[in-house]
Amino acid sequence: MNFDQIQEAKNFIEDKIEKTPEAGLILGSGLGSLAEEVDNVEYIPYKDIPHFPESTVKGHKGRLAIGTLEGKQVMAMQGRFHYYEGYSMKEVTLPVRVMQALGIDKVIVTNAAGGIDKNFSVGGLMLIQDHINFFGDNPLIGKNEDRFGTRFPDMTYAYNPELREVAKKAADQLSINLYEGVYMGVPGPSYETPAEINMARTLGASSVGMSTIPEVIVANHAGMKVLGISCITNMAAGILDKRLTHEEVQEVTTRVKEEFQQLVKTTLKQM
Ligand code: HPA
Repeated sequence: MNFDQIQEAKNFIEDKIEKTPEAGLILGSGLGSLAEEVDNVEYIPYKDIPHFPESTVKGHKGRLAIGTLEGKQVMAMQGRFHYYEGYSMKEVTLPVRVMQALGIDKVIVTNAAGGIDKNFSVGGLMLIQDHINFFGDNPLIGKNEDRFGTRFPDMTYAYNPELREVAKKAADQLSINLYEGVYMGVPGPSYETPAEINMARTLGASSVGMSTIPEVIVANHAGMKVLGISCITNMAAGILDKRLTHEEVQEVTTRVKEEFQQLVKTTLKQM
């Protein structure tokens, strides 16, 4: 996906919308219904957009929802691309490049994650403070496109401190208990073993999931401010004496979605 292809995708989208979005929203597994609350919405299926990959996972709609949410112009991704689906890191992060091309400078990234911190409970929300990239890959590998960003981008404030404060305040206002911690990103699609979860905890991770990190790296390369929120859909492998299932993950996201959406909307309004 080169610079010109990104421009083509951007032009296609721009032709369909009246106002330019200012914030991006990447909605994780089971959390996509927030896109249905966007007003004056223009839905654009991924399959219609030049050079966009197509989403394959159940529960992922695979479209952009562009319009107004909480008085802000947003471009929401209802469904994202996962590395475990076989997409390259560049494909996974193409929508972030399109956001960049559209001039979006803030992005909220959300995901379903397993809780590694034993103080967490299932159904809780976690503000991502920082991440550990365990994908063994990076979307910026290859010749650097200087028009996108610098060769060696800084990741010190990968999750923007100001936006984190805004989210914490929003959680307070809503009386939502918001955990805070480090997200470890893994390729999946198999869940982790209990030994891997113990390792992850030793390394400083509080939650684990199969997304987010590629998009956050590219957003930082693009100079965007990032906010990340995990929905703790299950305790990670080995913490409870039971198996992990995708059904549990879906069940919990459905249950928590309302609270999650309130938090995202209230944060968005104030950022
Ligand atoms: N591990 C990895 N990814 C996940 C998990 C998990 O426990 N829960 C939801 N996504």
